[in-house]
Amino acid sequence: MSILLALSCLALAGPAIAAFPDCTTGPLANNTVCDTSASPVARATALIGLFTLEEKINNTGNTSPGVPRLGLPAYQWWQEALHGVAESPGVIFAETGEYSYATSFPQPILMGAAFDDELINQVATIVSTEARAFNNANRSGLDFWTPNINPFKDPRWGRGQETPGEDPFHLQSYVYNLITGLQGGLDPEYKRIVATCKHYAGYDLENWEGNVRYGFDALISIQDLSEFYTRSFETCARDANVGAFMCSYNAVNGVPSCANSYLLQDILRGHWNWTSDDQWITSDCDAIQNIYEPHYYAPTRELTVADALNAGADLDCGTYYPENLGAAYDEGLFAESTLDRALIRQYASLVKLGYFDPAENQPYRQIGWANVSTPEAEELAYRAAVEGITLIKNDGTLPLSPSIKSLALIGPWANATTQMQGNYYGQPPYLISPLMAAEALNYTVYYSPGPGVDDPTTSSFPAAFAAAQAADAIIYIGGIDTTVEAEAMDRYTLDWPGVQPDFIDQLSQFGKPLVVLQMGGGQVDDSCLLPNTNVNALIWGGYPGQSGGTALMDIIVGNAAPAGRLPTTQYPLDYVYQVAMTDMSLRPSATNPGRTYMWYTGTPIVEFGFGLHYTNFSAELSQPSAPSYDIASLVGACEGVAHLDLCAFESYTVNVTNIGSKVTSDYVALLFVAGEHGPAPIPNKVLAAYDRLHTIAPLSSQQATLNLTLGSLSRVDEYGNRVLYPGEYTLILDVLPQATVSFTLTGEEAYLDYWPQPPA
Ligand SMILES: *[C@@H]1O[C@H](CO)[C@@H](O)[C@H](O)[C@H]1NC(C)=O
Ligand SMILES: *[C@@H]1O[C@H](CO)[C@@H](O)[C@H](O)[C@H]1NC(C)=O
Ligand SMILES: *[C@@H]1O[C@H](CO)[C@@H](O)[C@H](O)[C@H]1NC(C)=O
Ligand SMILES: *[C@@H]1O[C@H](CO)[C@@H](O)[C@H](O)[C@H]1NC(C)=O
Ligand SMILES: *[C@@H]1O[C@H](CO)[C@@H](O)[C@H](O)[C@H]1NC(C)=O
Ligand SMILES: *[C@@H]1O[C@H](CO)[C@@H](O)[C@H](O)[C@H]1NC(C)=O
Ligand SMILES: *[C@@H]1O[C@H](CO)[C@@H](O)[C@H](O)[C@H]1NC(C)=O
Ligand SMILES: *[C@@H]1O[C@H](CO)[C@@H](O)[C@H](O)[C@H]1NC(C)=O
Ligand SMILES: *[C@@H]1O[C@H](CO)[C@@H](O)[C@H](O)[C@H]1NC(C)=O
Ligand SMILES: *[C@@H]1O[C@H](CO)[C@@H](O)[C@H](O)[C@H]1NC(C)=O
Repeated sequence: MSILLALSCLALAGPAIAAFPDCTTGPLANNTVCDTSASPVARATALIGLFTLEEKINNTGNTSPGVPRLGLPAYQWWQEALHGVAESPGVIFAETGEYSYATSFPQPILMGAAFDDELINQVATIVSTEARAFNNANRSGLDFWTPNINPFKDPRWGRGQETPGEDPFHLQSYVYNLITGLQGGLDPEYKRIVATCKHYAGYDLENWEGNVRYGFDALISIQDLSEFYTRSFETCARDANVGAFMCSYNAVNGVPSCANSYLLQDILRGHWNWTSDDQWITSDCDAIQNIYEPHYYAPTRELTVADALNAGADLDCGTYYPENLGAAYDEGLFAESTLDRALIRQYASLVKLGYFDPAENQPYRQIGWANVSTPEAEELAYRAAVEGITLIKNDGTLPLSPSIKSLALIGPWANATTQMQGNYYGQPPYLISPLMAAEALNYTVYYSPGPGVDDPTTSSFPAAFAAAQAADAIIYIGGIDTTVEAEAMDRYTLDWPGVQPDFIDQLSQFGKPLVVLQMGGGQVDDSCLLPNTNVNALIWGGYPGQSGGTALMDIIVGNAAPAGRLPTTQYPLDYVYQVAMTDMSLRPSATNPGRTYMWYTGTPIVEFGFGLHYTNFSAELSQPSAPSYDIASLVGACEGVAHLDLCAFESYTVNVTNIGSKVTSDYVALLFVAGEHGPAPIPNKVLAAYDRLHTIAPLSSQQATLNLTLGSLSRVDEYGNRVLYPGEYTLILDVLPQATVSFTLTGEEAYLDYWPQPPA
């Protein structure tokens, strides 16, 4: 969504009150839509059957006026909840008192770093509970345009912070747990809320060297489309039964996503079997208009809206549908049944949310203010931040020695409050900055903001140096924030912005313990800090949300132990000169060093999955049951499994021992697959499974179970087919490998999934 466009849509917003239709005495009372024994699609079909053509067309934009003569209330389809119920056209926070706040979790990029699917499911459950409370108070609709689940391929992308990271398997696992938490399971009688997987597909550029998201044509090979750009969306549609999708601003291979029937029909509804007529697709905001201009895909406005509607974009976030579908209909450019289908899908989804049912029959209509910002929710927001925070360097300075009594808190994030929420946030119950948290720990604190994130001047140095001089230890908290990475804005450099590197270098010369916190969603190149032995420790803190300061300080002082892992690769500075942001290809070439940890041929500054602890772990990986496997037998054993890629291969047990004697800590077991199999070029390695173990006491062990599927071992051919290839396989446990095991697959290659080919 664009912030500018959000304002224009807001101005058009009709009544935002999310009243329910009156199914008892209203005009609809005797219509099938109010008959709880009928199916959702039958109920919605009966409702839409009452609409005139004009009423249908009037209800095709995100701000639906409803049909007053039928007692069908207006409905705002646009709600946001990226990491908590968020400001958006359909969400109305109160000024004070009840409903003036909701729990504000860390940004997804930091929650992704926790590599803890159970945590994500819990967070999503709380977000949907709070959303229901807002809805019951007429302060929100029931469908939410979250998650942003495009893979964070390029560190320059301004919206990478909204995603869990760069790895497609990680995104799949994360989004499955997120969607089932938000919606309340796979196919509940009543959905908690409807989630929306966005932005389908190939969206990861805002505005780079004149290439603007609204008109960008992403040229994506079918191999990359299948293997990388759409995998999280496959999980949304095929496996997690998400209620809605959003088509993106960009075009894919010449066809704007919202008019792209290959994406919306052949792949999404056809191949992924997202066929239920209570599931709908919205456009990104004004993406329908963008098909006309700046894509210049269709020559008239009428053809533009007809192309999109016929391709399967059911709802227009914007006004192009309501304004132009009437004329398009008069020109015979679409069938009324296509319009009916779009509306039936949307209203059937409201049926599944209990919109037309008596409140007393439903599990979520009793949720109220008492269920918002509960102690459990606030504890979870804190824990999510602690779990994601990632320790990149430590010479033993952390956790801080109890002999340190005074701290200099310096940097543009030292007293961060709103900054900690990143973007797409709501009103939090509170925002605890690092400064507030340090004071609460009773340190004598010398605070000085120093230069701003991208401040080019040094005028703030003297005051900050005085703070540094006065304290026992220095905590520098900076990096990037939404002034340099944001919606509609990509970065041009991976350097620490402004004068921060020079400033930190000067702080490192005070001869005092110096801890640097690198904040923000995208990585910056830390190579100025890593070799500097006077920079004693380095932490990546992302956007840690409402309790971010407490989480960061608790880790610094040792009240909590870090175990997060970087969810993206930290590239060297010159990466941005080696590959254009517009280059969508993953595999290395003369003009591309390769993308993500899977394909990058250079040496990362910090690897994907890296993260240190306050203790040491040893880990043993169980052996494969055999040194070699026959592919035909493996596939033959999958009878009855709907999707061969999800068919079980083997479960591995990882016995993790905390071999330190002092600190209790979590540990994330990451298992990668490598080896010579499948088409060249072979990826460096591929994440196949992960599991986070909690609170492993010193000198004790816990076991993780890592389940591999045939999909974990498969690769994707140039036609996008998922194939199990004969060859050598090595499983690698952890980034600094703790254990490896090898086996071979023999026999003929087997196809696990045939990818639909694009129209000629
Ligand atoms: C619904 O049907 C009942 C029974 O026929 C009738 O009494 C009632 O007036 C009808 N309600 C509406 C809104 O048409
Ligand atoms: C449809 O919307 C237009 C523009 O807001 C309005 O003038 C018209 O009365 C509406 N038609 C119906 C049937 O509600
Ligand atoms: C929400 O709106 C409905 C219909 O207008 C009304 O009956 C109900 O009392 C409202 N609820 C609250 C909590 O304001
Ligand atoms: C497709 O989805 C429907 C439910 O929407 C399900 O009944 C059917 O089994 C699915 N088909 C396949 C091949 O997965
Ligand atoms: C909402 O809060 C009430 C009162 O504390 C509690 O009984 C109920 O279980 C809560 N519901 C949910 C869904 O959390
Ligand atoms: C820290 O931030 C809070 C909230 O913005 C503000 O009230 C407070 O004055 C700031 N503290 C200092 C020392 O600037
Ligand atoms: C900080 O000091 C206050 C007042 O002496 C005390 O109540 C509080 O428990 C202390 N907090 C910590 C974390 O030691
Ligand atoms: C971990 O082990 C290494 C190598 O033995 C040692 O240098 C280091 O101090 C240990 N770290 C912790 C936190 O125990
Ligand atoms: C896990 O490893 C520890 C340390 O080597 C060992 O003592 C323990 O028996 C192992 N546990 C299991 C279940 O293998
Ligand atoms: C792994 O597989 C085992 C055996 O099929 C199952 O019991 C377990 O729940 C699975 N674990 C996960 C994390 O999926």
